[in-house]
Amino acid sequence: MTRQILVTSALPYANGPIHLGHLVEYIQTDIFVRFQRLRGHQVAYLCADDTHGTAIMIRAQKEGRSPEQLIAETAVAHQRDFAAFGVSFDHYGSTNSPANYEVCTGIWRDLRAANLVVERSVERLYDPVQKTFLADRFVVGECPRCTTKDQYGDSCEACGATYTATELKNPRSVHSGAPPELRLSQQLFVKLTPLQTFLTEWTQRSGALQTEIANYLAGHFLDKPLQDWDVSRPAPYFGFAIPDAKDQFWYVWFDAPIGYIASTQEWCARTGQSLDHWWKNPQCEIVHFLGKDITYFHTLFWPALLHVGGYQLPKRVQIHGFLRVGGEKMSKSKGTFVTAARYLEHLDPEWLRYYYASKLSSKIDDLDFQPDEFVGKVNSDLVGRVVNLASRAARFVESSGLSARYPDDGGLFATAASLRETLATAYEACDFREATRLVMTLADAANEYVESKAPWTLKKDPARSAELQDVCTVVLNLFHQIIVYLQPVLPQLAAKAGALLGSPCDRWELVTTPLVGTRIAKFEHLMTRVEVAKVQAMFVPESATGTTPLPAPTTPPIAAAVLSSSDTLSSDTLSSDTLSREPLAAEISIDDFQKIDLRIAKVIAAEAVPDAKKLLRLTLSLGSGPTRNVFAGIKGAYEPDQLVGRLVVMVANLAPRKMKFGMSEGMVIAAGTDGHVFLLSPDVGAEPGHRLH
Ligand code: 2FM
Ligand code: ZN
Repeated sequence: MTRQILVTSALPYANGPIHLGHLVEYIQTDIFVRFQRLRGHQVAYLCADDTHGTAIMIRAQKEGRSPEQLIAETAVAHQRDFAAFGVSFDHYGSTNSPANYEVCTGIWRDLRAANLVVERSVERLYDPVQKTFLADRFVVGECPRCTTKDQYGDSCEACGATYTATELKNPRSVHSGAPPELRLSQQLFVKLTPLQTFLTEWTQRSGALQTEIANYLAGHFLDKPLQDWDVSRPAPYFGFAIPDAKDQFWYVWFDAPIGYIASTQEWCARTGQSLDHWWKNPQCEIVHFLGKDITYFHTLFWPALLHVGGYQLPKRVQIHGFLRVGGEKMSKSKGTFVTAARYLEHLDPEWLRYYYASKLSSKIDDLDFQPDEFVGKVNSDLVGRVVNLASRAARFVESSGLSARYPDDGGLFATAASLRETLATAYEACDFREATRLVMTLADAANEYVESKAPWTLKKDPARSAELQDVCTVVLNLFHQIIVYLQPVLPQLAAKAGALLGSPCDRWELVTTPLVGTRIAKFEHLMTRVEVAKVQAMFVPESATGTTPLPAPTTPPIAAAVLSSSDTLSSDTLSSDTLSREPLAAEISIDDFQKIDLRIAKVIAAEAVPDAKKLLRLTLSLGSGPTRNVFAGIKGAYEPDQLVGRLVVMVANLAPRKMKFGMSEGMVIAAGTDGHVFLLSPDVGAEPGHRLH
């Protein structure tokens, strides 16, 4: 049955750029949306810029322009970034739009009619320098409960206490730094206690919320009468003037979520659809994605507004944690606050989509960006285990195409097809970590098949060309299934793979029917590997890119071991003891590094060198050209027989050296010290002759 699903991501504030933290949510939502489309469901994915409030007004003032100019510029930048990361909105609006004003007015009228709006005079903090009342988030001070410094005016990040801004100790305005004054302000409130039974029922029993969120709401808010919600702000304020209240504006958090409906309204007007079909139709599933910091607004106030306004309640509110980098909060001074634009200067957006997918579960846990893990997952899993499948087979069938009948593959294709419901369940639950893990098991099975059939060997024997075609038909079909399964995560890769295979990867059920007899396009690289230096370059602190010289940049550590499988390196190998025994060498430039030509080589033969205590003589192949004779000081650590057939890393452009036992034509790379030597091996997929970047 075709489902109708309306999906939203939280509306980003128009006062700043999109950064890696935002992208956790937009990528998560986009994967969900693309998965639903791949399954054939009808999906609308809506978003908009969240444009109102004091912060935007003050920033525009400082920059000597109008808030409208500022938000227009930001709208372009935000949409450019989202497009670059493949975030596939059906419509992107703005909360500062006529459509939003109209929907806000309608809901406000319904609140008045239900007698839920009351007026009261309240004491609020006022910035005497900026001459503005201060929203809670623009006052910082010490937590009234645990005295932690630099906490916002609504809640404490250290102890979780919630309070009002006037309760903060030693408060100061984040705009001017001045201590705020208390001034009386006439404000409008929405009464929530008349809706308490409804909200308790919806949060606790509708199934829309993750269990931990439902429990948090029950324990922190719904266990006592809900406080009235202060929805107005006095002038000056950049927002919508409340039609029936003098000099009062709706608080940004009133009109922001209503922007979800307004964006849908604009999209419906553009595409000739009815808004009610999406927002007042019980058949339509409304799904919101958002971060844990805005839980409160979306699970109490927002359902209250929808309920009173006669709109459909969300079927699901999917809440995620924060992004951390190297285990810490993102920080501008440490260079870990990375904007989308900065990421794009250095790295491929699909790498981030895959990396986030491989770490995102349906839980609310924070997600930690670990640079070495990022490099490893992209290079080893994505390129090494998935993308390489195509490069290992496609070239051999460029002229013949795929076999006319699907050959016997020992059940591999059927096994992969039978995983589709399990995978769909993981995607549906937003457990993308599990989905990608399952896909990688399929990739491993496909790679084992390639290894066992060795198409490169079959290629050498013209009498076995039919067998070669069959083997490649199997490999490319397994690759096709894997790419269909990964299409929600990697839409660009899927489009390129579709072009290569002459068959799109755009429907889930494609995994059940093998491709046969089709032509294969000329093979072109589908995806490159990440260069560690580029990840490091992305994490240079902002000020280090300006003119002020900085002390040594504090980039997150990327272990040298990411260039290889680090399985055989104990963590001690990287410990500070090791570093103090052998301090880091003097800094080199990237040009210096590029002079060293490191290559993957295959050990063709290995033998002990008589009379040499530590040396083995290795014969190495770079895939083509003459073999190399290399003496390696690894005798105590490896038996010669163990080495034949394995891949190693060698310095291939070292000048030949005459040794007592003969010429050494290169050097094999190993870690460790005398007696504890560990050769480095590449992950599956690397081949003799590949250069290390
Ligand atoms: O926290 C934020 O970034 C808000 N701009 C999210 C708004 S979501 C919705 F309610 F508009
Ligand atoms: Zn506290």
